[in-house]
Amino acid sequence: MILIIDFGSQYNQLIARRVRECQVYCQIEPPGISLSAITELQPAGIILSGGPSSIYEKQSPKVDPGIFRLNIPILGICYGMQFMVDALGGRVERAGKREYGFAALSIVRQTGLFKGLGKKTDCWMSHGDAITKLPPGFVATASTENTRFAAAADSAKKLYGVQFHPEVEHTPLGTKMLRNFVFNICGCKRTWTMKSFAKQTITRIRETVANRKVILGLSGGVDSSVTALLIHTAIGKNLTCIFVDNGLLRKNEAEKLKEVFQQHLQLNIKFVNAGSQFLKALKGVTGPEKKRKIIGKVFMDVFEAEAKKIKDAVFLAQGTLYPDVIESISAFGGPTSVIKSHHNVGGLPKKMKLKLIEPLKYLFKDEVRKLGKAIGLQENLIWRQPFPGPGLAVRIIGEITPKRLSLLREVDDLLLAEIKGSGYYRKLWQSFAVLLPIKSVGVMGDKRTYESIVAVRAITSRDAMTADWARLPHDFLARISNKIINEVRGVNRVVYDISSKPPSTIEWE
Ligand code: XMP
Repeated sequence: MILIIDFGSQYNQLIARRVRECQVYCQIEPPGISLSAITELQPAGIILSGGPSSIYEKQSPKVDPGIFRLNIPILGICYGMQFMVDALGGRVERAGKREYGFAALSIVRQTGLFKGLGKKTDCWMSHGDAITKLPPGFVATASTENTRFAAAADSAKKLYGVQFHPEVEHTPLGTKMLRNFVFNICGCKRTWTMKSFAKQTITRIRETVANRKVILGLSGGVDSSVTALLIHTAIGKNLTCIFVDNGLLRKNEAEKLKEVFQQHLQLNIKFVNAGSQFLKALKGVTGPEKKRKIIGKVFMDVFEAEAKKIKDAVFLAQGTLYPDVIESISAFGGPTSVIKSHHNVGGLPKKMKLKLIEPLKYLFKDEVRKLGKAIGLQENLIWRQPFPGPGLAVRIIGEITPKRLSLLREVDDLLLAEIKGSGYYRKLWQSFAVLLPIKSVGVMGDKRTYESIVAVRAITSRDAMTADWARLPHDFLARISNKIINEVRGVNRVVYDISSKPPSTIEWE
């Protein structure tokens, strides 16, 4: 494995990702990790990440410099390189000019990190301090116009440093450099697959939990489903999943979930039918934030009441993903998870004295999908589009009534069937319908109608941070519109949302 020491860079997730793409396992640890803990991990190599600090600040994060005596190859990136230089007797000073953005890199030695690369390439810089003297044993291996020691190495000791960021896409040959480090310098083999990750994780869960009890909030989304199946495989009936039906789900959602998880996979699930509780609390409410707050609060109450019934529960499992882990905190205090607002059980672990288990904490969404596949989760669950925690409530603009809910459910069901039938489902990040709070005039069979308008939203995205409206073919949109208007009573107009994010958001509320 490769150990990444997290000095707080916003790019740390990318370093991990690049290493994983080499099919080599890596783990990110805070700088406070002890030397003995490091040796116990038996890393084949260590990467010291970048970070926002200056090595001169008193509070700047530092890892035990004993790592340089472990005979393990080390790559320092940006602040990581400066830390290495400072620790080994070189000098780092505030640079006259802050360097940020693209820089032309001149490679002077095509060995080590730069083996097989040309003499010139681009790199991405982001630093305010500069190295002015290398430690004994080091030589410069690359430079830029502003940075004399853009890269340096003590190849005898297998210590390497780069002032730029090889992990970002703006450094086009960065992946090659990281591969050189991982394979040629550290001698790693491509052994890390999702199957091996699953195996290791299941063993670890089994050891951690032993014969104690775990609770998990199952939503049916890919993250909580994969978490549930992993833990179930590890500890069987000692896992209790709680599924809260908030009455804001899509058509037959709870039934489908029951069929897969309870009947097929034999998970221990408590279904809580709390629809009326949610709807009662939402009566008359139209403000989006108010809706969200109410749903979060009722969810918390229902979940807590149910969780309390599970005697001797010691752990709460969550499908937290890597992007949910706050980096700024992780730099100094170790990785800490933010709980997404919709799974608002944030206070629960403390209140009920539960310990957290987050087996997906180091994975990205696409890795979770691969993991799901490796542990035998059904394809249709693996490829589910994200669905918001507050459910259809944020897709019904205005008041939520049973009538409006059932209308949107019908529309949504038809729309999804069309999207799936056409093969677009997997290509789209999300596709759904929104019920508007206004009516418009139409004509059907010579008769005037005055009915609801539905907006169709289909978007492409990599991570939901930004999104573009999908350029679905006009004929296909026409087909959807016809179907909805003909088959769902109460809708006489369909519009297509052609806004991107930003400035719009994906959901309408
Ligand atoms: P927005 O609308 O902010 O959505 O562009 C970004 C992504 O997050 C989903 N979303 C939510 N998911 N609880 C969730 O679990 C929520 O309250 C929530 N609001 C938005 C949305 O579907 C999209 O994938």
